Amino acid sequence: MTELPAGSVIGILGGGQLGRMLSVAASRLGYRTHIYEPGAAPAGDVAHAVTTAPYEDEAALRSFAQSVDVITYEFENVPTAALDLLESIRPIRPNRRALAVSQDRLTEKDFLSEIGLRTAPYRNVETEADLPQALADLGAPAILKTRRMGYDGKGQIRFADTAQRDWTGAPSVLEGFVAFSAEVSVIVARGADGQVAAFDPGLNVHREGILRTTTVPCGLSNTLLMDAVLIAAKIVNALDYVGVMGVELFVTPGGLIVNEVAPRVHNSGHWTQAGCAVDQFEQHIRAVAGLPLGDGQRYADVEMENLIGDDIDRVPALLKQPRTQVHLYGKGAARPGRKMGHVNRVL
Ligand SMILES: Nc1ncnc2c1ncn2[C@@H]1O[C@H](COP(=O)(O)OP(=O)(O)O)[C@@H](O)[C@H]1O
Ligand SMILES: [Mg+2]
Repeated sequence: MTELPAGSVIGILGGGQLGRMLSVAASRLGYRTHIYEPGAAPAGDVAHAVTTAPYEDEAALRSFAQSVDVITYEFENVPTAALDLLESIRPIRPNRRALAVSQDRLTEKDFLSEIGLRTAPYRNVETEADLPQALADLGAPAILKTRRMGYDGKGQIRFADTAQRDWTGAPSVLEGFVAFSAEVSVIVARGADGQVAAFDPGLNVHREGILRTTTVPCGLSNTLLMDAVLIAAKIVNALDYVGVMGVELFVTPGGLIVNEVAPRVHNSGHWTQAGCAVDQFEQHIRAVAGLPLGDGQRYADVEMENLIGDDIDRVPALLKQPRTQVHLYGKGAARPGRKMGHVNRVL
């Protein structure tokens, strides 16, 4: 693919904080962005244009696609029909296969298994009637997850014993519980020319299903660090992927297990803003624009902390801390569980 000339417009599906930070990175490289978002769009504050319309609005989708040079996304759950229409007008990067694989936890696990990677043991639980057999197969504890649309631990039910009967209300997968010692993630990038680069893996701590902190270095042995990067590279190569992907891994005594992949920039990659010359947002824009990938080598130890809900009240104090970047997303009310911003502390 040829390099997008400066002044080109990159269309971004989804207008949250990820789209916002992608837009800033794009503008630094001389590009403009056009956000497509059905709801409120914090990304719109820093974009060249915003379309506010549902993903079912064919006329809006068509004129959005015609106004941009390439389409990317910060949100992987865009309906298939909308993607079909958009793709008939402009290229979508990362590609449709990456979206199809990551939109559905069952397809995702099948794909990972097919390319020889390890996942938690799992069963398809298409309807509530499939649950008893799945629980009998995998035993307890186990986690039932809706196949589609889950995030931040939403759409998940934990089963403490096999006699428990609860239902998510939608087609799901049951996963055997992985007794992990840590959760790490790799933010990997693949350029249009097939070049692959990975950021240093980060250690992730979740609370109530939501990411709280990511720390680098993550404390893995050199062997496991290498494994983590090789796993991520295998996934993006198998998908002929172009862009940045987040790969979540469980660390177990038997090695690394893939939890899930996100075909976009990832919350656990925000530390790169303070730790690398080229962060995950610029790396993604470079990839989708056909530019060479940048230097993502880590030059500092960093802790990223999400500011969730009331954490926003700590901003005045955080602004006074040394070696600290404060990033705010320009969202309205600080509801519980809502990601309002994050801080990167150089350690
Ligand atoms: N099979 C599992 N075994 C143990 N813990 C799990 C398992 N699946 C998920 N979890 C825990 O729940 C968190 C959220 O699950 P995840 O599948 O990553 O969903 P989400 O899309 O909400 O991020 C994980 O980061 C991990 O802490
Ligand atoms: Mg996750």
